[in-house]
Amino acid sequence: TAQVNHQDHLEIGGCDVVKLVQQYGSPLYILDETTLRTACQQYREAFERYYPGDSQVLYASKAWNCLAVCAIADQEGLGIDVVSGGELYTALQAGVSPEKLYLHGNNKSREELTLAVTCGCRIVVDNWLDLQTLVAIAAERPSAPPIPILIRLTPGIECHTHEYIRTGHLDSKFGFDPNQLDEVFTLISQQSCLSCLGLHAHIGSQIFELQPHADLASVMVQWLVKANSYGLPVTEVNIGGGLGICYTEADDPPSIDAWVKVICDAMVTACQIQQLPLPKLLSEPGRSVIGPACVTAYTQGSRKTIPGLRTYLSVDGGMSDNPRPITYQSLYRVVVANRMSAPLTQTVAIAGKHCESGDILIKEAKVPETETGDILVVMATGAYNYSMASNYNRLPRPAAVLVQAGDSHLILQRETYADLIRQDSLPERLSQSRT
Ligand code: LLP
Repeated sequence: TAQVNHQDHLEIGGCDVVKLVQQYGSPLYILDETTLRTACQQYREAFERYYPGDSQVLYASKAWNCLAVCAIADQEGLGIDVVSGGELYTALQAGVSPEKLYLHGNNKSREELTLAVTCGCRIVVDNWLDLQTLVAIAAERPSAPPIPILIRLTPGIECHTHEYIRTGHLDSKFGFDPNQLDEVFTLISQQSCLSCLGLHAHIGSQIFELQPHADLASVMVQWLVKANSYGLPVTEVNIGGGLGICYTEADDPPSIDAWVKVICDAMVTACQIQQLPLPKLLSEPGRSVIGPACVTAYTQGSRKTIPGLRTYLSVDGGMSDNPRPITYQSLYRVVVANRMSAPLTQTVAIAGKHCESGDILIKEAKVPETETGDILVVMATGAYNYSMASNYNRLPRPAAVLVQAGDSHLILQRETYADLIRQDSLPERLSQSRT
């Protein structure tokens, strides 16, 4: 819900972005609660509309995990996918009930698995070590109920996205090779301490094609048939996440509704062919839930023009608050929050402030004439920005505010210099005064 107000300023969630920066500082993540809630609702409603069986949407919190975001996803009826002890801890602290949490990861530690088992969350088993460790943990808790697990498989489905965020192809570090299914099901069916609820696969992220997800649904139904032949009570199928979003005008992703419909239709058809009852259908979108709901506001600082070549406008953040351009060559769109209707007269590079030539947020951005102090706003930064942020060059991480109907609330405090040295320690011989 972005608008332009009478001062020609960008307004998000009814809040003037220029005023937000004055109040909370810069750079600033601005998260629009209505957009976030609407995406959650669109997912839930689409599954209710197109899937005759049971369904559950999980929010893939790797996209942005913090107390407020977990609490909103929970209130909207989504479960939460977590991939580490830290994400799990945060979701629990946000009050999410453990049965709605699913722990992922290709190298979960024994501590992480123990936390998951004792709190009662579901565990997506990725490999043999996960299985071994769970059996060992169960042995220490002989009277506890069986541990609820899902089995993650590598579906061998290719899709068009950046190679770093492709996960479905066979040469992937995630999940069991489907050729090992018999071995996996044999082992699980012998372990009364494990209760295999379902199967999981994820093919990648920022995907615009629908067919790979339809293919995935039918592949997973074939696995389901196999699980049933081992007498395993497998009733859940989790098709992962992956729907892409619009970062620039060139992007034209399918809608949430279209994505869900294709998956549900494929699932229903595949189950009819196999004469199977419909499994509970889980999905775990991250980017498409939170990505469009946030923008990052920066303040313009220095400007450098290389005649005939390029103009660099530098901002007060960069690869530490948004590592996606330098990591994946991701594209973003920028607007100038205090000059929303000024004509776009120049093409510039929006540069970060890090000591690294590659720290360019946008290589070619069309902007109006600007000056130092203007507020530059990079759009659609909700996914994999804060969650991948670092303190590179010892920049404190930005604050985040949640905006809605003209109100704003701090959900992440800005880090301070004191925070930066909080975990440092100085051996005594280094702290003695120099002579
Ligand atoms: N489920 C699993 C098992 C995943 O690995 C992922 C993303 C998701 C769900 C959520 O996918 P989404 O709906 O967000 O596409 N840092 C990269 C993206 C990494 C995605 C990792 N897995 C980026 O900034 O593009």
